[in-house]
Amino acid sequence: MTATALKTAVLISGGGSNLKALIDAVATGRLKMDIVRVISNREQAAGLAYAISAGIPVSVISQADYPDRQSHDAAIAQALQQDQPQLVVLAGYMRILDEGLTDRYCGRMINLHPSLLPAYKGLDTYNRVLQAGDRETGASIHFVSAGLDAGPVISQVRIPVHADDDADSLSSRLGPLEHSLLVATVSLFCERAIHCSDGDIIYHGEVLQRPLQMNPGDPPALSKQT
Ligand code: GRF
Repeated sequence: MTATALKTAVLISGGGSNLKALIDAVATGRLKMDIVRVISNREQAAGLAYAISAGIPVSVISQADYPDRQSHDAAIAQALQQDQPQLVVLAGYMRILDEGLTDRYCGRMINLHPSLLPAYKGLDTYNRVLQAGDRETGASIHFVSAGLDAGPVISQVRIPVHADDDADSLSSRLGPLEHSLLVATVSLFCERAIHCSDGDIIYHGEVLQRPLQMNPGDPPALSKQT
């Protein structure tokens, strides 16, 4: 039996290159997913244009219009509620979410973060990796729970840090891999191959002990760590 297209909402704040990767993957048949709405907390978010050209409904819900995080996130919850998404993807959404929202979407909301979590939660990850002299960095996708970049980590991609790297070179090497990681990870949800249960990640029916690792190939593949 073929699974139906996964109803998915995407939250963005900026450029939206990861949103574009998802839209392209749907258009080329790599993801069986219906992007039901894109929500941005910034009206100027360049990524909104990708949604509009793909005919995806957009909502701009700016924190400037609400007195506090709770009421802002309640407005986001209300917008999500209309479309009943099965998955919510935070793709460059640059605000911490209120616990009411993360609880409501527990096990149905994922976030992409440019570090090998649990290391370097928060902003400015590349400079912190460089300052620490790390030899490796990467990106992670995790289920979202309350707190900064918190929740069980589903998948990661790793890159070496070279002696002459700066934040820009790390970002430009990691960016395309983040796109692939996101598409490969979201495809697990489309295939109903992954879910979260009591804080555990269940992958093909078994508890995942360590994050899946992406091997950059064509197509990129996720594999279990041995
Ligand atoms: C990505 O690097 C992601 O890891 C981080 O924000 C960036 C979003 O980029 N959370 P874009 O808006 O998808 O281009």
